Amino acid sequence: MRRAVWLVVVALLAMGYAARAADNFPSRPITIIVPFAAGGPSDAMARILAERMKLALGQAVVIENVTGAGGSIGVGRAAHAAADGYTISFGHLGTHVCNGAIYKLNYDLLDDLEPVALLPSNPMIIVSKDDVPAKSLAELLAWLKSKPTPATAGTAGAGSGSHIAGLYFEQAAGVKLQFVPYRGTAPALNDLVGGQIDLIVDQISNSINQVRAGTIRAYAITQENRLPQAPDVPTVDEAGLPGFHMTLWSGLWVPRGTPKEVVARLNAATEAALNDPSVKKQLENLGLQMPDRDKSAPEALGAWQRAEIAKWWPLIKAADVKVE
Ligand code: MLT
Repeated sequence: MRRAVWLVVVALLAMGYAARAADNFPSRPITIIVPFAAGGPSDAMARILAERMKLALGQAVVIENVTGAGGSIGVGRAAHAAADGYTISFGHLGTHVCNGAIYKLNYDLLDDLEPVALLPSNPMIIVSKDDVPAKSLAELLAWLKSKPTPATAGTAGAGSGSHIAGLYFEQAAGVKLQFVPYRGTAPALNDLVGGQIDLIVDQISNSINQVRAGTIRAYAITQENRLPQAPDVPTVDEAGLPGFHMTLWSGLWVPRGTPKEVVARLNAATEAALNDPSVKKQLENLGLQMPDRDKSAPEALGAWQRAEIAKWWPLIKAADVKVE
């Protein structure tokens, strides 16, 4: 009897502690784990958001780049962190959907992580090094098919957005690529500009500035309508690869078990950042599209992620994607 009483007392004390911790949240800096190299599209978006989230939270919001294995190393670090709201997992279609169909993860994407907020998305863009002898997507496809060995395509590792987009491109275009994995598409883009690799099917937010500078060549974007931020780049439908549509969306998650009040606080800070005009301008200038206002609740990200798992896992498993 005495043991049962003690257990109840301990449980009540723990609940009281958790409630007080949630009431005082945040009382110290928060870390967002970005699972790709600094300078890439994930890192850029996270840093722009963190700068504004810290104002809403009243604490520093720092970015930690934990790379490797298509982003799954960094997501695993976050998934195994304390469920107290001080560690956030930044990710996207690749890391929080596709990786689950490719890697034997030491965490479960749905059971071990809790959605916080859906973030902006962007189409992919087919880009090549400047000296590829092609001035249109049709000429690029002809060049790819004429090569005696597969062209090299930079990715952020197996299961990354750029890798999934590259696989999808191979299938849609009937070409074969040799994927070259990097710790993110920032280093991949550096090699593309330097001519060390032939192409990337990249997030437009990563390539857009190099396209504007004319240091790489753009062929098409993977959506129906042209982007105002890149009006000269045709859509895949105009350029001869109709239906090759792909949108890479991003999101924030925390470890499962994080107090609901803390998740709500982080969601509110994210929404404040997304609704800030200067943040919106920075993100849209990169070709990113803001999430629908009716998808701002944490549950909306959860529902979207589950729907994307249902859509992509069968395709990826059928493609028998190998981890490099
Ligand atoms: C990818 O999945 O390609 C990553 O988003 C690249 C990155 O953010 O560096």
